[in-house]
Amino acid sequence: MTLKDKVIFISGSSRGIGLGIARIFAQNGAHVVLNGRKEIASDIIQELENYGVKVRVLLGDVSSFEETKRMIATIKDEFGRLDILVNNAGITRDQLLLRMSEEDFDDVYAINLKGTFNLTKHAIALMLKQKSGTIINITSVVGLAGNAGQVNYASSKAGIIGLTKATAKEVAARGITCNAIAPGYIKTEMTQQLSEKTKESIIQSIPARSIGTVDDIAQAALYLAQAKYVTGQVLSVNGGMYM
Ligand SMILES: NC(=O)c1ccc[n+]([C@@H]2O[C@H](COP(=O)([O-])OP(=O)(O)OC[C@H]3O[C@@H](n4cnc5c(N)ncnc54)[C@H](OP(=O)(O)O)[C@@H]3O)[C@@H](O)[C@H]2O)c1
Repeated sequence: MTLKDKVIFISGSSRGIGLGIARIFAQNGAHVVLNGRKEIASDIIQELENYGVKVRVLLGDVSSFEETKRMIATIKDEFGRLDILVNNAGITRDQLLLRMSEEDFDDVYAINLKGTFNLTKHAIALMLKQKSGTIINITSVVGLAGNAGQVNYASSKAGIIGLTKATAKEVAARGITCNAIAPGYIKTEMTQQLSEKTKESIIQSIPARSIGTVDDIAQAALYLAQAKYVTGQVLSVNGGMYM
């Protein structure tokens, strides 16, 4: 499938993995709809437009059912279609279970899991009418393996895997695929918060002995967006961290 003139919406694409995905799809000719809660730098928009594609920014919080509904309705009005949805927006609020507050748990679920539900629910109505579409959900290696200090995050990411498989089964016969990417440890602002000691011990636990890049994840998204006979899968991109 050629990506030229396809429309892709990537939640949480002002930086990090989401922006990396936006770049690779723009380079391949797709029109890109960016999202985040805060303003997106004009040089990022300019850089993507230089690939000759349309770039639209829709600010909004994915945890809000109404805001996600508005964003998908705007895409329908302005582009008439949505070919690829990437549910990428996500946060961490790490703490050992004993010390984890209810708020830390609820915030992570609201953005990571409910946010994925919100956008998928609104987008799927449009994709069903088109009889085509691709959904790519960004989960995590810790959704597969678990991780101390991340009960909230790991379970929200495991929930995304269940959501991915259930959605895939519901819509496979209608020409729509739904898959997940499970990144390992990737260099972004999210992981830069970790101490040098923690980073070093993570690197030692990765068979490839290196951290991943946003481009490693973007390449996986590019593959899934074009793989019409692949659905309900979790593609691990983790340097062998979890097999
Ligand atoms: N980095 C890793 O090693 C790693 C590993 C496994 C999985 N992941 C997953 O990959 C995804 C991206 O991670 P990243 O490392 O690129 O994170 P990041 O650098 O912190 O970027 C997160 C993005 O999500 C947006 N965002 C956060 N909350 C949002 C909300 N409620 N509504 C809309 N946008 C929101 C942020 O923009 P605003 O701040 O403007 O809202 C930003 O654009 C996440 O789902 C993360 O869990 C990352």
